[in-house]
Amino acid sequence: MKVRTLYLKKNTVKILDQRLLPSRIYYINCKNLKDVYKCIKDMAVRGAPAIGVSAGYGMYLASLEKKFKNLKDLKDYLKKSGEYLVSARPTAVNLSWAVNRIMKSVRKFSSSQVLKLMEQIKKEADRIYNEDISINKGIGANGAKLLKRGSTVLTHCNAGALATAGWGTALGVIRSAHKQKKIKLVYVDETRPYLQGARLTSWELLQEKIPRVLITDNMAGYFMSTGVIDAVIVGADRIASNGDTANKIGTYSLAVLCKHNRIPFYVAAPLSTLDMKIATGKKIRIENRSSDEVTFINKKRISPIGVSAVHPAFDVTPNELITAIITEKGIIRPPYIKNLKKIA
Ligand code: MRU
Repeated sequence: MKVRTLYLKKNTVKILDQRLLPSRIYYINCKNLKDVYKCIKDMAVRGAPAIGVSAGYGMYLASLEKKFKNLKDLKDYLKKSGEYLVSARPTAVNLSWAVNRIMKSVRKFSSSQVLKLMEQIKKEADRIYNEDISINKGIGANGAKLLKRGSTVLTHCNAGALATAGWGTALGVIRSAHKQKKIKLVYVDETRPYLQGARLTSWELLQEKIPRVLITDNMAGYFMSTGVIDAVIVGADRIASNGDTANKIGTYSLAVLCKHNRIPFYVAAPLSTLDMKIATGKKIRIENRSSDEVTFINKKRISPIGVSAVHPAFDVTPNELITAIITEKGIIRPPYIKNLKKIA
């Protein structure tokens, strides 16, 4: 896709404001850590890997923010900056993964030159960015093997180029399969309430000329029951060591529907989305977002004043409903507790 999710230019992180898509292509100029934090929190940038990549550059901007007295001063500031960034959104593990990766390189740094450390952080953030694209291409190549020619697939939310540094995870599989002429049609869940499917996924598919049709979330079961869907492919925000997977609200319902209709349910995610420190999905913190995101659409109130809504932004799909997890290191099948350990 020609439009980039984010990039660094002359010490400014340019973040595509996804809230304005598909009507407008506009980049927010992030000059400091707080700008990046706000973009993540307010969902100008979203999608687990893209949040992680943004955080890497956010840490670099933090290192440029002040005149540091010495190396310790800078290291302490970076530690605090990392904690601040991680608090922006709690569910996607890629955020803390990227901050930890930068902090690991900071801890390893032994020279006393502050400037050298700044350079090193930039290099590490660039590496996170570039690796993300090649990892997604690996996920795409592995996942495409699971699909036959003429496949009709359904996807939820946006796990595409926009949710990553490029190519995408679930949509990366669809992109790669399309290049191999395997995709007949993609059913795109609109993904209430934030409409990532309607606004972002359908837009990406349109750019790439991949056949697509938009449906509302509550139509998925109907189409599955008619036998037109060959597979469901979704992304992930955090995968526990037993394979339980947090992803956009509505994913769990799709997995249950797949089981009932005997349709394979695939999760596509990089290894950076694995959280081997937690035993099950019960330990995953689910982000609760504002009621207004449900009661308003495009700034227009759709429910009566006095009615409030609840808005858990993610749900957890239990591992037994997942046919396979597609990673850059291969396709992982149950038992996940054993097989994820082998590749993590
Ligand atoms: O709230 P969002 O838009 O950040 O949620 C995104 C998702 O749930 C995606 O499916 C997930 O991050 C996978 S992105 C490759």
